[in-house]
Order: sequence, then structure tokens, then C-alpha cells
Amino acid sequence: MDSSFRTPEQDQQFNKAWEVLKQLADNSQSDRILDYFDAEPDRLEKMTASCADLRLDYSRSAMSLKVRDQLLTLLEHSGLDTARKAMFGGELLNNTEQRAVLHAALRRSAGPTASGLEDISSEVEAALNKMSKVVERLHSGEWTGHDGQSITDVVSIGIGGSFLGPEVVVEALRPDWHPRIRVHFVANVDAADILNTLEDLSPSTTLFIVQSKSFTTQETLTNALTARAWFLGDPAVAALDDTAEALRRHFIAVSSNVEKAQAFGIDAGNILPMWDWVGGRYSLWSAIGLPIACQIGMPLFRKLLQGAEHMDEHFLTSPLEKNLPALLAVIGIWYNNFRNIGNYAIIPYDQGLNDLAAHLQQVDMESNGKSVQRDGKPVFSQTGTIVWGGAGTNGQHAYHQLIHQGTRVVPVDFILPLRSRQVGRPLAERIGIEQIQKHHRMLISNCLAQSQAMLTGKSLDQALQECLDAGMSKTEATQLAPHKVIQGNKPSTTITIPEVDAFTVGQLIAMYEQRIFVQGVIWNLNSFDQWGVELGKQMCSSILPLLEGGSDSGALNLDPSTAQLVDAARAANS
Ligand code: F6P
Repeated sequence: MDSSFRTPEQDQQFNKAWEVLKQLADNSQSDRILDYFDAEPDRLEKMTASCADLRLDYSRSAMSLKVRDQLLTLLEHSGLDTARKAMFGGELLNNTEQRAVLHAALRRSAGPTASGLEDISSEVEAALNKMSKVVERLHSGEWTGHDGQSITDVVSIGIGGSFLGPEVVVEALRPDWHPRIRVHFVANVDAADILNTLEDLSPSTTLFIVQSKSFTTQETLTNALTARAWFLGDPAVAALDDTAEALRRHFIAVSSNVEKAQAFGIDAGNILPMWDWVGGRYSLWSAIGLPIACQIGMPLFRKLLQGAEHMDEHFLTSPLEKNLPALLAVIGIWYNNFRNIGNYAIIPYDQGLNDLAAHLQQVDMESNGKSVQRDGKPVFSQTGTIVWGGAGTNGQHAYHQLIHQGTRVVPVDFILPLRSRQVGRPLAERIGIEQIQKHHRMLISNCLAQSQAMLTGKSLDQALQECLDAGMSKTEATQLAPHKVIQGNKPSTTITIPEVDAFTVGQLIAMYEQRIFVQGVIWNLNSFDQWGVELGKQMCSSILPLLEGGSDSGALNLDPSTAQLVDAARAANS
């Protein structure tokens, strides 16, 4: 199995740069970010970079310019050039499954990045055309159900990468929704998920898209069977002579496993393709993005691809000191490997991007949560990062307390759309545009206030004075003031976009995908497999029969705690 993207010479330089960074970290533990601004007059300019109108300001990172430069030296020797070429050239980067990693080819309008990939380009275009046909028929009302009524509701059934990416994009682009079509998502095997969704729908006007690259995922297949039972259980459907034709009108699939999808009962003509060279968590750009296209239309789906392609071009061609994915990657490496901070929060000040953190959690943690390098040898440092977050301002009334006063450091990526698209929504006119603008001004000022509070904090003197100004006695003020102290010096970056539209959402997601790729190169990981999720799946398939009345839990060699819990579950359901 191939080892590293680094040549032995690069490896040497890389290790040297790593050692220098360790020293810089030791020497900068007590530095204050605010002092960097004084000592480095060009800091703001040097720590700002952009890709079209998407702008990254990382001047409030907990690193001097010297550290930043040293991180870029590390990156220069990381083998990134070779790795990037290998990825965009279609090499088998996923070396444990012998698969290429070509999600970038899905959003490439300018033809293949390497010769030999022409077939892939034409397959991608053919799949996009197939998506277009589905979407056109849906939007025109021509796609009718078993009783001739037009489809109004699309239920996407899928989990992990076959759910999270499409869901966040659909939610983000609500102002672009087709007025008559409503897309719903079902992921969890908890029956509540599908029942909650089906409760309000009518079988005559609902189309199901079963989304599964492998078509073997337990949760998805179970939900798809439940959907089919719901559909076939409708008296009007049950009374039909030709249920096969009815199923054809109401069930389609996206999968790379055509055989399995057909065996499940999906008509061959209703299966849109996926390929083994697209990882599940990177698949929203493929036909797995069909729910997005159903909701916002194909022209905007193509705009999403263009935004991502624009970021890929930037990633391939910009110098490292202005390269957004590269910069975000090394900022994360600094915190993770040199400052012992193993998490970061993604906090978009946009309700539609509320689930962005959930999507990037999968992309980051499933890609880089690894303990061995590409050649199977143990990793040389911490890998992966705990990703979490949610929409501002909600988090301010929940977890921001810990960010401001807790003992742990949480670097935050603030994502701020400068303009609101909510003003364009029909309801906004009725309420008054000024009122809706006011919401957005509040959103912006809250975002700016949070990052500033993280940076500057509040000293004991300030807290004391504040208490005295509020009319407290000196004793009272002295007692309360320590509780009001905010350490400050908490790092953050701010990413601004003009507004949330298909292009900027494409840019944002591609930026994080490439960030995660760069970190994988630095850690020398295969970021494109996910063997860690398999053991749980295997164990689940042996525990399930026990709950279905299977005999003896002893035969399975369960640990005592699991055995006891199995017995309790059996007793509760007997
Ligand atoms: O269990 C993890 C995983 O394999 C993810 O990588 C993937 O996105 C998800 O399951 C769904 O897989 P599929 O699309 O094959 O149903």
C-alpha cells in the first residue's frame, strides 16, 4: 500500500517544520491575540483572503504571523501538490478500497482535469441531464401519480452523506424553493422520523427518492420498505390492477448498486446513477443532490456546482498564503496539534445554515477520525477534530456561556451573510421590508459582538466598575465582579459572504471539503474510507435477531452489560 505523498526529502523538511512549530507553541502559550494587532500593523491585511466575494478574516486567530508563515512552510513540505494532482487526476487516493476520489469532477464544467477522465465527464453530464428530466416533469406538473394528480411532495429517504448535504442545501435556499413542490427528508430508523413525515402527505401526490450509494444501508432500506407499505396500504392504490405501474410513478432511486435497487423493486428506468469514485459524504454534487434540484430547480443546482467549482479552482491555483482551504486547514492544525484544542464550532448567522455543522461533522469526522496513516502505521499526532455548532443567535442563549467563560477553548468559525434574502420573500412585503431588514441588522450586530467579546473579554477592573456604576456597594461589587470577568483572547475566524445563494453555499461547502482534504494530507491519512463505522453495523446485525425472538444471547459472547440490556429490551417488548 502506498505510504505518503511526501518524498523522503519533503518528509525531513516537514518534520523540521513540525519541531519549529512545537517550539513556537511553547513560547506563545501566554500570548494575547490583541497584542498581535499592535505588534503586527499589517496583520489584518495579511490575515485576510478571499475567493470571489467570499472573504476569510482570520486575524483573530491565536497565532502570530510568524506562526502562520511556519504553518505554511509545513504545508509546503506536506506533499499537498502531489496529493492535489493525484486527487484531481483520478488516482486511487482511497487506497484501502482502491477507489478514485473524484467528487470535484462532479462540479467541473470545463472538462476533465486529467486525460483519461473523459468518460467520467460524459457520465456526469448524462446524470445531470437525467436529473433535469425528472425535475422538469415535476415542476411542470407533468409527473403525475397513480390517479393522475401532479406530484407535490418529494420524500428523500437516505442517511449520512445521502441525507446531510442535500438537507442543508435545501434548508439554506428556502427563498429559492419551487412554490408547488415540497421536499422532505427521512433519515433515522426511528419510526418517528418517517411517520412524522408521512402523517401530512397523500400517497397520490408523493414521490419517494431512495438515496443510497450502496443500497445496503439498514436504516434507508427499512424506511423505504415502510414507505412502500404506506403507499401500497392506501385503499385507492390497493384497488389498482397494476400496482407495479403505480410504484413506478412513486418510487425512484439514486444508487451505484443498480442490481440491489432493482431487487428492492425500483424500476430500472427510475434509477439515477452514482459511482464508486464519489464518497458518500462528498456526494451532494451528484444525483444524490436530486432532492435539492427538485426543490430549487436545475439552473440553481448548476449554480451550486459552479460555486463549488470556483472554490476548487481557487484551491488549485491560489498561493498558499491566500488559499482559503489551505489556511483554514493549517489554522486547525495549529490548534489541534500544537495548542491541544481538539474541537471547533461552526456558527453561521443564518437560520437556513443551521445544519451546516451537522453536515461538516460527517465530512470532517468520518474523513479524518483515523488512528493509522495511509500505510497502516500508527499516526504521528492527534488527528481529526470534533466539529459542532449551529445557527447564531440561538447558540448565544445556550453554549456561548462556555465559549466565553469556560475553561476549554473553542475556536469558532463565524459565517456571516452580509445581506439577507428574507427581504425578497412574499411575506416580508406584507410585514414591511424595514422590519425584516431590522432582523438582519440585529443578526449582524450579534455576530460581530460575539467575536469581539471572545477577543477582548472583560477585565476584573471593568467588571468592578460596571458593578459600582450599577449602584452596588463596594463589598457587593467585589463579590460579584469575578463572576463577570470574561477572559477574552478566544480565537475565531469570520467568513463573510454577500448573501446565502446557490453559488455561495457551493463555495462554502467545497471550501470545508478541501480544508479537510488538506488536513488529511498533513496527517498522512486516507480521508476517504470509513472502516470505523463497520463494527457497529456488524454487531447490530447479530443483536437484532435476539430482539426479534432469536434464542440465546449467551451464544453471541456479549459483554455482561450488553447482555443485560438485551434481556431488558426483550422483557419490555414481550
Ligand atoms: O455508515 C456510514 C456511511 O457509509 C456513510 O459514509 C454514508 O454516507 C452513509 O453510510 C450512507 O450510505 P449509503 O449512501 O450507501 O446508504
